[in-house]
Amino acid sequence: LSKEQADEVRHVWDKVKHNEVEILYEIFKAHPDIQNKFPQFAGKDLEQIKSNSDFSTHATRIVSFITEIVSLGGNPDLLPAIKTRVNEMGQNHRNRGVTKEQFNEFRSTLTDYVKHHGSLDGDAEHAWNQAIDNIFFIIFSNL
Ligand code: HEM
Repeated sequence: LSKEQADEVRHVWDKVKHNEVEILYEIFKAHPDIQNKFPQFAGKDLEQIKSNSDFSTHATRIVSFITEIVSLGGNPDLLPAIKTRVNEMGQNHRNRGVTKEQFNEFRSTLTDYVKHHGSLDGDAEHAWNQAIDNIFFIIFSNL
């Protein structure tokens, strides 16, 4: 990503990054198979667990991870640090049996969310898709 593209991604992400619970809720609602990979949430009523502290803790973990990657992006000196973090995350998720299909499901709901609540079109959409392609390339090499 160019520096301009990294700035666009950060700008888009800044608009939604405080909606952690809503983002995880939308992902679980659209893809119960993702919810069911979590021992603490599997088989439970999403409308009920949504307001649990466990739910918001996990939502915050995921969103903070994305925020961390987005804020490192655009600085070539920090590329090795990004790769290390994302490889670690990929290995953790492989150990949990998370599949590429599930990551793609996650991507599709997250992108829809950002489209509706941020504003994602034109160059920003292109930059966003490119950024996820790059991150997923690293994750998928670990699955
Ligand atoms: C942890 C599943 C995608 C970030 C976890 C845990 C599970 C899980 C079961 C352990 C939770 C716990 O023990 O409390 C999944 C599934 C995914 C997915 C099924 C399907 C797509 C993602 C994505 C991100 C992410 C896309 C970030 C962009 C994290 C983080 C943690 C975590 C930061 C906590 C640290 C760790 O234990 O690795 N995930 N995850 N996950 N997940 Fe995911």
